[in-house]
Amino acid sequence: MDQFINQQNENYERPEEWDKTGESATPDESRILSREVNPEDHREGSLRPRALNEFIGQHKLIRNLNIFIEAAKKRDESLEHLLIHGPPGLGKTTLANIVANEMNVNIKTTSGPAIERPGDLAAILTNLEKGDVLFIDEIHRLNRSVEEVLYPAMEDYELDIVIGKGPSARSIRLTLERFTLIGATTRIGMLSAPLRDRFGALERMEFYDPSALKEIVTRAASLLETHITDSAAMEVAKRSRGTPRIANRILKRVRDWAQVQGDGRITDTIVAEGLSALGIDSLGLDDVDRKCLRAIIEKFNGGPVGIDTISASISEESDTIEDVYEPYLLQLGFIDRTPKGRLATRLAYEHLGLSMPERSDGTVPQQELF
Ligand SMILES: Nc1ncnc2c1ncn2[C@@H]1O[C@H](COP(=O)(O)OP(=O)(O)OP(=O)(O)O)[C@@H](O)[C@H]1O
Ligand SMILES: [Mg+2]
Repeated sequence: MDQFINQQNENYERPEEWDKTGESATPDESRILSREVNPEDHREGSLRPRALNEFIGQHKLIRNLNIFIEAAKKRDESLEHLLIHGPPGLGKTTLANIVANEMNVNIKTTSGPAIERPGDLAAILTNLEKGDVLFIDEIHRLNRSVEEVLYPAMEDYELDIVIGKGPSARSIRLTLERFTLIGATTRIGMLSAPLRDRFGALERMEFYDPSALKEIVTRAASLLETHITDSAAMEVAKRSRGTPRIANRILKRVRDWAQVQGDGRITDTIVAEGLSALGIDSLGLDDVDRKCLRAIIEKFNGGPVGIDTISASISEESDTIEDVYEPYLLQLGFIDRTPKGRLATRLAYEHLGLSMPERSDGTVPQQELF
C-alpha cells in the first residue's frame, strides 16, 4: 500500500519502484530521446500545465474534455470513467491531474503493477470520497484478479469482498462513493475488452506538431527563466519527435550548453551545436535510430527483416525498438511495416545520404512489391 499516493493538486511523481517493475522501465536512462521517464524528469512537475486552458495542442481531445467536464458540472455529477491512451511522454498523467483540478476534486494516483492483490484495490476504492478521481497509470498491467474487482466498482459502484477462509467464508457487498476512474495506457491493445468497454470515454493522444511543440518549448523556457529565440524554439520543436517530454529535456540540455558555451541565451547556433554534440540530427534521430536504419539497409539489403533480427543485430531490446524507435520512424515514413518484416524506404536512404540500389537484373526491388 505504500506505493499508493494520495495527493491533492500536488506535483505528481512516479515512485521509483514502478520503473523497476517491468517492460516500460527505461532501458538506458542516459538517453535524451527516450520517451520514458528518467530521473531528471522527476523535476518535470514544475513544467506541467495545471489547467485545461494552459494545455497546448491536442485540440480535439481538449475540446471533448471541456464538454465532458462542463456537462458533468452542470448535472452536478461525477465525471464518467475516462481512458487516455497514446505513446509515452505526450501528457496522459498531466491531463489526469488537470481533469481533477477542473472538477475541483481529489486525485489518487497509482499504477497497474503497483496494485498486486484485489485487497489493495479494495482498500483504495473504499477510501475514495464522492467525485474523487482515481488515476491508474499503465492500466494494461493490472492483473486479472484485480481487474475483476474493478468491473462492479466501475459499473455499479459496488464492491464484493470475501471475508474469512474455507467453509466459513462469506461475501459481503459494499457500496462505494461515485468516483471517476481515469486509466492511462501506452498499449491500448493489451487492455482486456471487458475493461475497455466499461469506460465512458476513450481518448487518444497524438504526436504534437512542431508549432504546438514550439509553444510548449517557449512556455517551458519562460518558466525556467531562460531566454530562447523564436527560431531556436522551433529548432528544438522539430527535433523533439512530437513529444513534449523530449522537448523539455532537450531544452534543458541546450540551456546548459548556452550557459557553458555562450552567454546563457539559447540561439539557433547553440541548439545546432548542443544537439550535434548529443548526436541528435535535424529530424531528432539519434544514434540508435540511425543504427536501426543502417542495419536494415546494410545488413539486410533494405529488408524486409523481422524486428527480432534487427534487435539482435543492434543489441537493443525488441520491445524498446517497437515502443520507442519504430513509431517515430514509421511516422517519418522511413520504414514500412509489412507482413514479412520491416523495410527501409527511399526517404531513409536519402536521410542517411545513401543511394538506393537498383537491381542489376532489372527486377523490381523487393520493397516496391508492398
Ligand atoms: N500539452 C502540454 N503542454 C505543455 N507541457 C506538456 C504538455 N503535455 C505534456 N507536457 C509536458 O511533458 C511532460 C510529460 O508529460 P506526462 O508525464 O503527462 O506524459 P505521459 O503521457 O503521462 O507519459 P508516460 O506514458 O510516460 O506516463 C510533463 O512534465 C509536461 O511538462
Ligand atoms: Mg504518465
